[in-house]
Amino acid sequence: MARILITGNKGFFGARFQRHYSLQHQILGIDRDEVDIVDRDAVLRTIEEYRPEIVIHGAAITATSFSDKHPELTRQINVDGAVHVAEGAMAVGARLLFFSTEQVFNGNVEAGPYREEHAANPDTMYGRTKLEAEDRLRGILSDLWILRFTWMFGLPEYQAMVNPNVVWDALRIAVSGKPARIPVQEFRGLTWVYHMIDRILGVLEIPPGTYHIGSENELGRYDIFRHIFRELGIASRIDDLLIPDHDKYRAKPRDVRLDTGKIGAAGITFPPGTEAISECIREFSMTGMGSP
Ligand SMILES: NC(=O)c1ccc[n+]([C@@H]2O[C@H](COP(=O)([O-])OP(=O)(O)OC[C@H]3O[C@@H](n4cnc5c(N)ncnc54)[C@H](OP(=O)(O)O)[C@@H]3O)[C@@H](O)[C@H]2O)c1
Repeated sequence: MARILITGNKGFFGARFQRHYSLQHQILGIDRDEVDIVDRDAVLRTIEEYRPEIVIHGAAITATSFSDKHPELTRQINVDGAVHVAEGAMAVGARLLFFSTEQVFNGNVEAGPYREEHAANPDTMYGRTKLEAEDRLRGILSDLWILRFTWMFGLPEYQAMVNPNVVWDALRIAVSGKPARIPVQEFRGLTWVYHMIDRILGVLEIPPGTYHIGSENELGRYDIFRHIFRELGIASRIDDLLIPDHDKYRAKPRDVRLDTGKIGAAGITFPPGTEAISECIREFSMTGMGSP
């Protein structure tokens, strides 16, 4: 049983992580209501009192549009907040898992998938502040795993919020019955949040460093939505509800795919995004939605 402190435990990942491991590990979850990570003293006091062996830093401003409208607040939370958590981990000798993102590449003009050493060129405050935090944390402690996640998906659950993601968004289109335009030229890795939860503590068994992590995916967003409709058993609704949007990203495809070969070579592997989606839909017993 490990003693773990996780920040952002009311978020999409954190709530599910804490519930999943609550019987196996001793976990203290903190979110904005308990400790504002911008408050350095409060962060250090909390970590020094709890003395975790492992710190998982998930708290952040994650919405890109909000981050661009509130750049100063985003920097305080995503950079200064991360520094405070790292200083706390350093003070108690804890190992730190820091969650970064594929979005550090959202301004790159060349096509993905990107490897860890590829020069990142973020063009949102979210991406910029995550990249800046990575650099700052490397200067604070060496027992540090920087994990750049691909886009996670999952479904709403009791007392666990859900963020916008392909499976949930496709379901909402199906339920609303309103046709939606889906970009054809958008390419992102897609990871089931439970696949990430299952593997995340295993990362501590591989050498510290920066890793791209999650399921890889070759399909554009429109083709992914078609796949989701088929897996839900509502393929007959595809042509009514899913309109291929060829205009968005026409000039330059949006491509933030990550090459996950480095972490794969270290033994941490994920199924391809389409398989992960099929598994999620099966596990939530959501196949056959088209039949009464
Ligand atoms: N979900 C993905 O697909 C994805 C992909 C790549 C990377 N990541 C990274 O993985 C981590 C977890 O993602 P997620 O989707 O679970 O994010 P999330 O749902 O947005 O959760 C983040 C949590 O952090 C909290 N928080 C924000 N500001 C805080 C502050 N000042 N003090 C304390 N807590 C604060 C948020 O509270 P409020 O809701 O009150 O703001 C929220 O509960 C993030 O660092 C994210 O950048 C996620």
